[in-house]
This record gives sequence, structure tokens and C-alpha cells, in this order.
Amino acid sequence: MAKLFNGGIIATGSYVPEKVITNHDLARIVDTSDEWIVTRTGIRERRIADPHIATSDLATIAARRTLESAHLTPQDIDMIIVATVTPDMHFPSTACLVQRNIGATNASAFDLEAACSGFLYGIIVANQFVATGFCKNVMVIGAECMSKFVNWKDRNTCILFGDGAGAVVVSRVDEGYGFLSQVLGADGSGAELLMLEAGGSRKPPTFETVEKELHYIHMDGSEVFKFAVQTMAAMAEEAVQRAGLTKEQVDFLIPHQANIRIIEAARKKLELPEDKVYINLDRYGNMSAASIPVALDEAVKQGRIKKGHNIVMVGFGAGLTWGACTIRWAV
Ligand code: UT7
Repeated sequence: MAKLFNGGIIATGSYVPEKVITNHDLARIVDTSDEWIVTRTGIRERRIADPHIATSDLATIAARRTLESAHLTPQDIDMIIVATVTPDMHFPSTACLVQRNIGATNASAFDLEAACSGFLYGIIVANQFVATGFCKNVMVIGAECMSKFVNWKDRNTCILFGDGAGAVVVSRVDEGYGFLSQVLGADGSGAELLMLEAGGSRKPPTFETVEKELHYIHMDGSEVFKFAVQTMAAMAEEAVQRAGLTKEQVDFLIPHQANIRIIEAARKKLELPEDKVYINLDRYGNMSAASIPVALDEAVKQGRIKKGHNIVMVGFGAGLTWGACTIRWAV
């Protein structure tokens, strides 16, 4: 079906849990230090959900805040996409739980799993439905409770992740605004580099899988790092080129918040000054699919993103996956 309408983001919202875990707190439970974590990653602290809280709880608050800033009712939403690798349960989808919680009775709902690239996959999928006229208002939420799947004895991973949720509404916007370019990709040959191995149909839960700690996140950090540096920089540039823009025309970069050194590589490739890149990983760590929408919401609320600005978003994650887009801000 051809494009009939112009899709763009019309509102944002986010939520992070109140509980803060600092690097100093982590240094008391694993062999690490604030100095190591800050210099290798840029992370200083992260937010952690309480034990009884699940991903749909965070997603629901972010969704309600987004509806408020969009001046829409729950009934105005005709589709909900939740990007997450930490769903409340295997099924039903976290999106269905959010649909029930916010009372979006006219919405279809499904989860989308592309790890840290999930939010970019989500908004690009949403844009297809808006562009064809199939949907008017799609709520896309990136939400994660990474803390529930992190091995708190593994210093290679436990220092990196945090919990949170961010959401947007993708809707019709005026000609000349909205999505200017979209990039999505995957390379499944790197599937083993970052994964949560057990609990699915390949390795259903058994005492043995629990004993071997296969229900936690496992990562080959340095291989993921090499892939990420190359991919973030190349995909950010690709998104700008496909939008028909020059690097000078980029007003703001919202990168996935995994590691300050990876973000720096993307910033340098786009030749952007530091004040045109949004960074919050020092406060939240890597919130996987929630990182980009939380950063986006903060940048909007701080007035750093204005109507007419050309915004580039870029991310990478397990799969391996990547995504990027350029959006001319419409509101
Ligand atoms: O959203 C996608 C998610 N994943 C990522 O983005 C991860 C990408 N990778 C990274 O960000 C980096 O690879 C890390 C931050 C995970 C690690 O940094 P690195 O500079 O690649 O360090 P390394 O893995 O090469 O480890 C260097 C040393 C090792 O010790 P030895 O073998 O040299 O003696 C590690 O055991 O640092 C050690 N190490 C630590 N030391 C103190 C690893 N983690 C820690 C730690 N504290 N938390």
C-alpha cells in the first residue's frame, strides 16, 4: 500500500522508578569500583524497580503521561506496541496488560522484541500503520525491568543496566514534518553475543538451567562493543543521508544509552558538538528499549527539541539488531 499520510511523533512521556543504585552501592556487592564503571561506561547510577513491580507497571505510567501530553483519551489510541525483552510473562503480551490498565478499548496490542533497538523498531513499525491510514494514533512504549534478569554476582553485566519506560504517540503530522528516514537491520549470526538463554522452548526452565544461571543476561561485552561502535556511527550517518540532509542540518542526536564511548563514536561521525547529543546514561544506565524514549522525553521536556528540528535517533542491541531514523519534529 502506498503512503497516504505523513507519520510523526506528537507526544512523549516517561517514568523511572525512584530507587537509585549507585556505583558505590555495586562496589559493595561485586568486585568493581566507581572509577572503573565511570571511565569504562560513563554510568554513575541506575534506577531499580521494587520487587513487586513488573514491566507493565512502568509502561502504564509512561503511557498515561504520554496520553496527557498528547491531549488524547485512551479510546483515541488504535494500536499499542510495547518493545521489551523483559515482559511480565511469556504471554499474554505486556501490551495487552497496558491496554487493560489504561482502558484503551479501541486498540490492538502486541509486543515487539528487538532488544535495545526495540523502540526504534516500534516507532518505524507504527509509522507504516499511520502512513497507510490503517491507524491514526499508535502508542509505542519501550519498557524494561532489566534488574529482574541481571545476575547481581556478575560484574560484567550488573553494572550496566537499569529499569524504566518511555512512550510516544505516532500520528499523522503536516507535510514536511515527521519521519524523513528509517533504517532497520539485523544480523542473527551474532545471536549468542548477548542473550538470556533459558526459559524458552529451547531450554525450558529446569533445576539445571537455574543452577547454571541461564535465566540471567549473558554478554560478550567486548564483541558487542566492537559491533556497537561501528554500527551506531554508520547507521546514524545512513539515517542522515537517507533523509537527504547534510550533517550540519542535524539539530539533535538521541542515541541508545549503552556506553559513553559508543555514543562518542557516533557523535564524532556526525561531527556534532557535545551539546547536540542527549546523554542520561550517567543517571539511568542502559535501560535497553526504554533508553531512547526516556532520553527523548527528557529532551522534549527540557525544551531542547523544538518544532522543525531534525532529530536523529540511533540504537543497537541483542539479535544483533540496529535501527535509526531522522524525524523533523512536528509539534
Ligand atoms: O545495549 C547493548 C548492551 N551491551 C553493551 O552495550 C555492551 C557493550 N560493551 C561495553 O560497553 C564494554 O565492553 C564493557 C563496559 C561491558 C566492558 O568494557 P571493556 O573496556 O570492553 O572491558 P573488558 O570487557 O575488555 O574487560 C577489561 C577488564 C577485564 O579484566 P582482565 O581480564 O583484563 O583482567 C574484566 O574482567 O575489566 C574487568 N572488568 C571489570 N573490572 C571492574 C569487567 N567488568 C568489570 C567491572 N569492574 N564491573
